Amino acid sequence: MKAVAIDGPAGAGKSTIAKQAAERLGYIYVDTGALYRAIGLYVSQRGADPAGEEEVAPLLKDIRLELVLTEEGQRVLLNGEDVSRRIRTPEAALNASRVAALPAVRAFLLELQRGIAERSPVIMDGRDIGTVVLPEAEVKIFLTAAPEERARRRLLEHQQRGEQADYQTLLEEIKARDHADSTRAIAPLRQAEDAVLLDTTHLTPEEAIQAVLNLVKRGG
Ligand code: CDP
Repeated sequence: MKAVAIDGPAGAGKSTIAKQAAERLGYIYVDTGALYRAIGLYVSQRGADPAGEEEVAPLLKDIRLELVLTEEGQRVLLNGEDVSRRIRTPEAALNASRVAALPAVRAFLLELQRGIAERSPVIMDGRDIGTVVLPEAEVKIFLTAAPEERARRRLLEHQQRGEQADYQTLLEEIKARDHADSTRAIAPLRQAEDAVLLDTTHLTPEEAIQAVLNLVKRGG
């Protein structure tokens, strides 16, 4: 299996770096956070509590998720509808984190994620890729950055999309989500024993991409 697993907390640069590295390697990029975000969106649209297993589990059979590559880049389709933009709000992030703590949701996405990795070489980013989803991945990277730097990057992303955002609020949201993701009972965010730690606090995106490509060249 040709697979690169990139895990780490919110805003460490996973998606920017993984996307670019995948393009240069000719691998498929799989943003697993987008899948959790789409489930969170669906559940809240149906009026269910994203933290309630009994409410969420029966809804999963109605969810069809696809990652498709278009001229605008990778898009997330939820039952055929492009939700790529709608899943990027702070509320969607919080709902994603809530549904991500439910065993039924994790089992549902585990199958989907492994299926993609069996069919093509992938760079997959998330929280539990190296530990749970693809424990056999050839290269495992744990990408981090200081929370203040991650909040600053998130602020820039919002500003670039023309959205209002406040640094202090983003920093608090990031810290709260890190805490929730690292302390949950199932598939918590943690560095796999055989993962390489890559701290991007003082790296430009290009430097971080090169670091990832070097690790892939070396085979981990
Ligand atoms: O983009 P950002 O780093 O803020 O988050 P994301 O990767 O889009 O993930 C959103 C949420 O989904 C996370 O806070 C996690 O709770 C959850 N998630 C997960 O549990 N496992 C994954 N493999 C990916 C995301």
